[in-house]
Amino acid sequence: MTASTTSHRFSTLSVAPPDAILGLTEAFLADSNPDKMNLSVGVYKDASGQTPVLKCVKAAETKLIEEEKTKGYLPIDGYTDYRNHVRNLVFDETIEHDRIAVIQTPGGTGALRVAADFLVTQLTPIRIWIPTPTWANHGNIFAAAHLEAQPYSYLGADRKSLDIDAMLDDLKNKTRVGDAVLLHGCCHNPTGIDPTAAQWKEIAKVVAEKSLIPLLDFAYQGFGAGIAEDAVGLRTVLDAVDEAIVCSSFSKNFGLYSERVGAVSLVASDADACKASLSQLKRIVRTNYSNPPRHGGAIVATVLDDAGLTAMWTEELTEMRERITRLRGDFIDTMKSTGAGHDFEFLRSQNGMFSFSGLTPMQVDELKNKHSIYIVGSGRINVAGMSESKMSQLCEAVASVMES
Ligand SMILES: Cc1ncc(COP(=O)(O)O)c(C=O)c1O
Repeated sequence: MTASTTSHRFSTLSVAPPDAILGLTEAFLADSNPDKMNLSVGVYKDASGQTPVLKCVKAAETKLIEEEKTKGYLPIDGYTDYRNHVRNLVFDETIEHDRIAVIQTPGGTGALRVAADFLVTQLTPIRIWIPTPTWANHGNIFAAAHLEAQPYSYLGADRKSLDIDAMLDDLKNKTRVGDAVLLHGCCHNPTGIDPTAAQWKEIAKVVAEKSLIPLLDFAYQGFGAGIAEDAVGLRTVLDAVDEAIVCSSFSKNFGLYSERVGAVSLVASDADACKASLSQLKRIVRTNYSNPPRHGGAIVATVLDDAGLTAMWTEELTEMRERITRLRGDFIDTMKSTGAGHDFEFLRSQNGMFSFSGLTPMQVDELKNKHSIYIVGSGRINVAGMSESKMSQLCEAVASVMES
């Protein structure tokens, strides 16, 4: 102790509340029950309970280690080859390349924060409209960037379907011309409920009519129906507007969670506007993390540069997607077979890693306290974290909390 306690500025601080999702993992790790299950955080697990490194990633890393010549800084906007691949995954040929600026970011979260900083610093006054419910971190990221977020309706009162009328009504009547609107490109988190192709057209029409800036969060490309299939909704919106921002993540579809690989793709109305926007995005990055990490982007680019590795990636991604679909089906069937009369058939049409179970916060608490099964308070279950071997244990526990 070198100074009087009155000079300890940190000692006046209060403890911040734990993150809604990552905080559950801390509680899970501290739980001594050997049968505990963590179905909260959005991470894919294989049949052995591991989050595997994809074979295509291992092959790309081997190649990179052999060929890598420098650890020098990347440019502020990242690795050119990677940025071109992101552009090709997200967009079709209908938008001229000189209207699209892509920057590499640390994960999808980094992309959202850069996008939020861009909206606030360049387009104020602006608000962003976010669906109810949405990924818990959206609100936190926008608040940290001082971007005002307002809710629009999404999930219906039945908690099983999209209330498209309420959503369109809010976007038409509550937004101001020029506001931003956050749309989940596919595999809506936490509900797994996506608009149909026809509903995307209606959404795109309102977005265009109100000159809203769509901020498309595209964290699960390939986890819904396929790489190209999952871009259909997003491209419908892009067809209707001249300006948009897409935030990509390769955490899930390449299993590169800890490598922090994402991107912001900005579409402008012409090449000059695109250049100016890119320069502002780069300024935001320079004063934040300066330039992105190299390794994850280099892996993605190495895989997508090579036809063989790309085919391997597509196959591994398909395997993950199909396993999740199978587990979702197993859960529905095993719930039926508990004989408790709980019909989870509505989960079958949900997309992506998660199922929005309809369990109440009290039931979620009971699952944790009595059965050491951890799911998010909204009732969102990470299907990708389920396992065949523990399916009966899970379903019996769910049935028991629904009955109590
Ligand atoms: C909807 C949504 N957006 C963005 C992200 C952020 O992804 P990343 O882990 O790449 O930061 C996630 C991650 O769970 C997500 O669910």
